[in-house]
Amino acid sequence: MERIIELGAAYRESKILLVAAAYNLFDYLEEPRSTLELAKTLKAEPRALELLLNALVALGFIEKTGDRYRNSPEASRYLVSSSSDYLGYWLKHANRGFAKWAKLEKAIFAEPCEEEDRLDFLLALDSIAAKRADELARAVNLEGKRSLVDLGGGSGAYAIAFAQRYRLAATIVELPETASATREILKRKGVAGIRVLEADFLRDDFGKGYDAALVSNIIHFLSEAQNRTLFRRIYDALADDGVVIVHDYILDDSRVAPREAAIFALHMLLSSGGRTYSWSEVEAWLREAGFKRFERIELSESRVVVGRKYYANLRSSPSCAKGKQPASSLTATTLSLSTSMLRRRGERSSLFGTWLTSLPYASGENAGSTTSFFPPALPYKKHLTFSLTPISS
Ligand SMILES: C[S@@+](CC[C@H](N)C(=O)[O-])C[C@H]1O[C@@H](n2cnc3c(N)ncnc32)[C@H](O)[C@@H]1O
Repeated sequence: MERIIELGAAYRESKILLVAAAYNLFDYLEEPRSTLELAKTLKAEPRALELLLNALVALGFIEKTGDRYRNSPEASRYLVSSSSDYLGYWLKHANRGFAKWAKLEKAIFAEPCEEEDRLDFLLALDSIAAKRADELARAVNLEGKRSLVDLGGGSGAYAIAFAQRYRLAATIVELPETASATREILKRKGVAGIRVLEADFLRDDFGKGYDAALVSNIIHFLSEAQNRTLFRRIYDALADDGVVIVHDYILDDSRVAPREAAIFALHMLLSSGGRTYSWSEVEAWLREAGFKRFERIELSESRVVVGRKYYANLRSSPSCAKGKQPASSLTATTLSLSTSMLRRRGERSSLFGTWLTSLPYASGENAGSTTSFFPPALPYKKHLTFSLTPISS
């Protein structure tokens, strides 16, 4: 399967090399240069040029140190015009051929190929998403959560996986012009019970009090400013112990890896003017919005950042219930007793789990979950004082 997906997008990698050769880029990279220096020399648009340079690093033709780029040994030998092994004339010829290949269907078929409508687009996404959704839902533990909002949920593949795995009430937010395609796919899959809300997530109200928000393959078509707006709106829409899950092609902070993410940045430049973003960029927006405790997760073909919205002033706010006992006697049983005590009081049991994650021993992928994380006896010797605060205060 992966071979087919790779071959289907292989033209992108080919064009990256052909464009670089056509503009003699490698001739200027025998010495390390920054994007801005190179953009000036080549009369190029700096932001777009940087994406091209990062993709060339991802493909192994150039290297990046700090913010400077230089040729790899292979590029110095084959792609610099003064080299006796120069292949650039051939690549320039191939680049002219690229435009001709774009007309291949016209040379063979009488009718132009079908235009892509919204449903085709969502089906295209779904053919990948449906195969990868379980991996994401397994990787992000939403045990104990009751609701999820999937912003720009598309075919619903990811919302379905989370809803089925954790028995959540899921809401997909989709643009009015796409929502009917979403509903059609849910119908074809025989999935009932997932709400499709027609709204623009950058402008419209999409509800409040969700336990989790999923932002899958969204940030790459938005600008930095739009992503900031989106995460602020998500923060406001989440319950006090809510989590945000950002799933995308997320770059290393060097922005040159993983290879697919560096190449996809150029695809998005051409599609929406967006690009792919790095771990740190995503976390910075989340932090600005108020989220905390970030977790980075690597999946087989994509990456995830999970951020948590803690109850504001959790530790300092006045307590409504207090308990004091030696931590060594705090067992799974006493913890779940405390949880049910909270439930009886009409408060959110998951708040207790959230509070516990701020303690040094409560970390790891189950942090935030009250159901399965805690060992039978906690290895803590000190006395702990815990105070539980109603979420509504
Ligand atoms: C690239 S697709 C991602 C779909 C899905 N989340 C996934 O990971 O497969 C982006 C989706 O976001 C929707 N979308 C784009 N802008 C939106 C907006 N402002 N409000 C709501 N949905 C939006 C599009 O209609 C599209 O279905």
